[in-house]
Amino acid sequence: MSSPLDSARPSEIPFRNPGWAGNTGQFELTEAEVRGDEYIGARALDGGHPSGAPAFPFMLVERNPDAPLFEGPYKTRFEKILTRYPDVQGALIPVLALAQEVRGHVSPSTLQEIAQLTGIPEAEVRGVASFYTMLNKRPVGRFLIQVCTNISCNLCGGDEVLHAFLEYTGTELGETSEGGVFTVTEVECLAACGFPTAVQINSRYYENVTPAGVPALLDRLRTEAR
Ligand code: FES
Repeated sequence: MSSPLDSARPSEIPFRNPGWAGNTGQFELTEAEVRGDEYIGARALDGGHPSGAPAFPFMLVERNPDAPLFEGPYKTRFEKILTRYPDVQGALIPVLALAQEVRGHVSPSTLQEIAQLTGIPEAEVRGVASFYTMLNKRPVGRFLIQVCTNISCNLCGGDEVLHAFLEYTGTELGETSEGGVFTVTEVECLAACGFPTAVQINSRYYENVTPAGVPALLDRLRTEAR
């Protein structure tokens, strides 16, 4: 039965989401222009997938586990973060992310310092840090390679991609390669399930990764590291 609302609807509603990020009908962009043609080579080194912008800018090239925690511009950022939340507990995750940006990981002593700085009980700081896998509890390499092996990626060869990364970096899961260049880990769903296998390297997303593409990808990273 037709509803009175039917006559109020335009006869043809433009289809504005053909299934890939970027095309909302406002811009004349091709999928290749939005995504790039392949996951290596074409993109700017610090670019990456438009939908893969990280929430945490936690992977700087320069990381010093012994750096003072929040000094200079980092002190300003720390203070700014505190003003953005109604209470200090609310600011804890961004503060942890900032600490990781400075030191590369959040060690037990860093967590202790954060507890002192914020007045949050140390057990609570540790509880939050241990819950979130994006907070590194131990040092990682220059490139942290996180391979998704959850269902969609798993069905499309995620395990094989993971093994290729381990083989070509010569590491075990979670171990850092010689010279501190690569650490390979396995993660649960990077929210890029439509493009398996999804891999996050530092803050960049790589999609449709296959075992055959792994050596070229690692070569590119080695070049960047140099
Ligand atoms: S299952 Fe791999 S990104 Fe979601």
